Amino acid sequence: MGVEVRTIVDDELEAWIAACNNGFMRPAAEGAADFLRTAEPHLDRCWAGFDGTSVVATLRSFATPLTLPGGAMVPTAALTAVTAKPTHRRQGLLTRMITPDLDNAAERGEVAGILIAAEWPIYGRFGYGNAADHCQLKLDVSRTRFLREATGTVEMVDAGTARRECPAVYDRYQAAQPGAIERNGRWWDIATRLKPFPGFPIPERFWVLCRDTRGKVVGYVSYVVDDHWVDRRPENTATLGELVGVDEEATLRLWQYLAQIDWVQTIAASDRSVDDPLHWQLHDARALRAYERSDFL
Ligand SMILES: CC(C)(COP(=O)(O)OP(=O)(O)OC[C@H]1O[C@@H](n2cnc3c(N)ncnc32)[C@H](O)[C@@H]1OP(=O)(O)O)[C@@H](O)C(=O)NCCC(=O)NCCS
Repeated sequence: MGVEVRTIVDDELEAWIAACNNGFMRPAAEGAADFLRTAEPHLDRCWAGFDGTSVVATLRSFATPLTLPGGAMVPTAALTAVTAKPTHRRQGLLTRMITPDLDNAAERGEVAGILIAAEWPIYGRFGYGNAADHCQLKLDVSRTRFLREATGTVEMVDAGTARRECPAVYDRYQAAQPGAIERNGRWWDIATRLKPFPGFPIPERFWVLCRDTRGKVVGYVSYVVDDHWVDRRPENTATLGELVGVDEEATLRLWQYLAQIDWVQTIAASDRSVDDPLHWQLHDARALRAYERSDFL
């Protein structure tokens, strides 16, 4: 008998998430299905390929506003959890799942489709193309001098405070940033580790808020610092979870905070915009290296 492709029902969620983890080469995680159930999992958008009773392919889409240049937001279908088991690849399962899902999205009035592609050749045939690049940044703190001091204050906070304060900052950022999409409460619960997603461990990060001169929270950064000493001298890297400011002032203030942390020699940031203005805010722009430029959205 051939593989049946359809959306799933609630008691198939556990097998579906296990198959999805398998497709991403991760072990099955106990409790993941229950975690997904705590927020609406939109089962009518969770597709599976069933070989008998076994889930051998997965795909899910969700609705989000997408910010366009100029500030308009359009309803968009975001694709995720796309997998086919190694034993069932190249038998047309992705094609059979994505085709009805895209048709449904169009019927709902979702005018764009977005995803982050694991591999370039997978999605072009379905109409997707590269829209935005990203890059990694590395700032050499010992060579860093800023051209001016940003205004505002910074404050280290615990995860609970970050969970309360950061979403509103992100929402303001999203409204003005082309390519940005919505984040729901579950995203923040996971990022702040207040409700971890089983199977997706996130390191415990420091959280720092930036306030403007009137005391309003206008930015945040989360980061971890390694413990690397050479010849009894600190050579640590602060690796950012993310750094978000509602404007250039807040963003600069947060970079300046990071560049003055004792023991930290390098600041590493991933998923940054390729036109990040930080280069132009330094006396020596070569203190900042941009590398691994690649397609992202
Ligand atoms: C990506 C993946 C889901 C594709 O599923 P699939 O069921 O094998 O895809 P299909 O059989 O429907 O393929 C449709 C076409 O795309 C091509 N294609 C699919 N995946 C491809 C890949 N990784 N590289 C190049 N071509 C690919 C197929 O060759 C096929 O072409 P054809 O119609 O000319 O024969 C599967 O390879 C997979 O699970 N990969 C690992 C996880 C992953 O990368 N997921 C995507 C996350 S964004």
